[in-house]
Amino acid sequence: MSDLASQYERQARWRAWTDAISRVPIKPSQRVLDLGCGVGDVAALLHAKRAQVVGVDADESLLAVARARHPAIRFEQMDARELVPESFGRVDGIWSSFVAAYLPDPDAVVSRWRECLAPDGWLALVEVDDLLGHEPMSALMREQIEGFYAMAAADGRYDFRCGGKLVGTVERAGLIVEHDGMLPDHELSFRGSAPAEVIDAWRLRFERMGGFAIAQQLAEAGLEVIVGARDETAGRAAAARIPGARFLQLDVTSDDGIRAAVDALDALDVLVNNAGIADPGDGGAATVTLAVLRRTFEVNFFGAFALTQAMLPLLRRSPAGRVVNVSSSLGSLSLERKLQSFAYRASKAALNMLTVTLAQALAGTPIKVNSAAPGYTITDLNRHLLQPGWTPPPGQTVEEAARTPVRLALLPDDGPTGGFFDKNGSVPW
Ligand SMILES: NC(=O)c1ccc[n+]([C@@H]2O[C@H](COP(=O)([O-])OP(=O)(O)OC[C@H]3O[C@@H](n4cnc5c(N)ncnc54)[C@H](OP(=O)(O)O)[C@@H]3O)[C@@H](O)[C@H]2O)c1
Repeated sequence: MSDLASQYERQARWRAWTDAISRVPIKPSQRVLDLGCGVGDVAALLHAKRAQVVGVDADESLLAVARARHPAIRFEQMDARELVPESFGRVDGIWSSFVAAYLPDPDAVVSRWRECLAPDGWLALVEVDDLLGHEPMSALMREQIEGFYAMAAADGRYDFRCGGKLVGTVERAGLIVEHDGMLPDHELSFRGSAPAEVIDAWRLRFERMGGFAIAQQLAEAGLEVIVGARDETAGRAAAARIPGARFLQLDVTSDDGIRAAVDALDALDVLVNNAGIADPGDGGAATVTLAVLRRTFEVNFFGAFALTQAMLPLLRRSPAGRVVNVSSSLGSLSLERKLQSFAYRASKAALNMLTVTLAQALAGTPIKVNSAAPGYTITDLNRHLLQPGWTPPPGQTVEEAARTPVRLALLPDDGPTGGFFDKNGSVPW
């Protein structure tokens, strides 16, 4: 069973599905769709109510697990957003759990789903609201999480506040809300400290963040990897999972920390400047504050700049030094992007300038300096939701996203320098 499928299984046990289904007017022989069915556990519970269930998911590997586990149920591959009446005919009920928050335009999709319902049909939506908002939480952590929510929403990636908006969505689709309530949940809705197994699941997911994937792929390529992270627990846990890797505590905004990191190393061939933030207060150039701009530049540009300069003496001693600045297509001056986030974009544009000018300064040395645009990626901070029904778009898993930085880290001697690349080739500046 795939890693994703086994995680779905574990999470299915944490959900109060029986409780949730008891709130739905499902009747024997009704035709019911489970949109975003994942490995099919909810579809099986709906089937146990003697409904004629079709489980729908975009991920064929999850469907394969679902079919093996629940052979009596029909499972079909399809993007739930594309559902139209012609897909499966009119149905009596639509169940969809943990899909809505991924929809950039839930109103439009839910309206289309409504058209697929027979008269007197029902729609059941389950979604999270304030997913990461477990208490107790420090003010700083709350602020960071709010910022992450804002960025995910602005990008149209994920709406962490979706749960509370569903009543409006459903009403705008012309449906009558019969029931609106909170479900208990072992992971997503509880009071007090998180249980150990939930913390363990979160830890595993965090370890699969973009930076971790880069480190892992570099280790697989035979490099001895040093995992630089400011959080000792997370950094050590990540390093422990990468063969031969070691941990180096490093906050790129700390001059002392950078000096200590340099002192801790006797050689360095590849520097991947992956650390990056998106500030909660980021916004348009006309409104964003100087404080936000400074905070963002502190990590995304000054941090990368200071660390690179500090590591240069070591890189110069390498026969094939490589610097990879993990930038973003949002840092391109010429590409059109809807997302405002001026501080983030400006910091990545500045990082790109570091790439160009440092490459020029190091011309004639073996060192190559390039910018990588890893691509729009569901990093583990949001991917850790692992809701049934959601599959990362092709090429957008953290493993995929790591490939461009890794490729640039392993460039041969005749490879490019001073460039800006994504998985398809050059990115316009
Ligand atoms: N995700 C995307 O769609 C996307 C697209 C284009 C480019 N990128 C870039 O890819 C890089 C990795 O981002 P990600 O998506 O993997 O997000 P992420 O999971 O939030 O990773 C960013 C990492 O930077 C670390 N960091 C932040 N401030 C730091 C500091 N002062 N010192 C040391 N480390 C620090 C964070 O550590 P903590 O865990 O301690 O906060 C975190 O591990 C970033 O540069 C980002 O701008 C991402």
